[in-house]
Amino acid sequence: MAVDESRADPVEDKSWISVTINGSKQDYLVEQRLSLADFIRNQVGLKGTHLGCEHGSCGACTVIIDDRAVRSCLMFAVQSDGSSIETVEGLAIDGVLSPLQESFQANHALQCGFCTSGFLMSLVARLREGPIDTESEAREALSGNICRCTGYSGMVAAILEQSNSIQGIKENS
Ligand code: FES
Ligand code: FES
Repeated sequence: MAVDESRADPVEDKSWISVTINGSKQDYLVEQRLSLADFIRNQVGLKGTHLGCEHGSCGACTVIIDDRAVRSCLMFAVQSDGSSIETVEGLAIDGVLSPLQESFQANHALQCGFCTSGFLMSLVARLREGPIDTESEAREALSGNICRCTGYSGMVAAILEQSNSIQGIKENS
């Protein structure tokens, strides 16, 4: 993602970026050294994207940019210019949880919930690539993120339940 130098203000050390966040397109004036995670949390005000390690290890800050799961602590906000960004706030529609969120809830796949938004966004991106059919595939899909309190069994169950219900819908249609 190239930075558009023509939109930079060297005096202010800021740049204009145009991004679509959860379907809503808007321009923002951002500091050039502002991380994408801090931009999302503090400038856009979407606090569901969490910051854990801030160096790319834990996955708590994961968002989806142009259909790819990305660690927002490792990017500058200016690098997202022109992108479509999805955060955890975009998963529920009109207050109704997405099927994957429902499945997490039903399978007790979270405890404190600090890691949950990152896991959800990683899994949404992964499930768009194809179904997750086995426990080992589910564990692989979870392997890029870290949960420090609840363990992974509930998440594996939630993923497999979700994947099975998608398969069921396809088979019955
Ligand atoms: S806060 Fe970004 S990977 Fe941990
Ligand atoms: S539920 Fe607490 S860190 Fe994962």
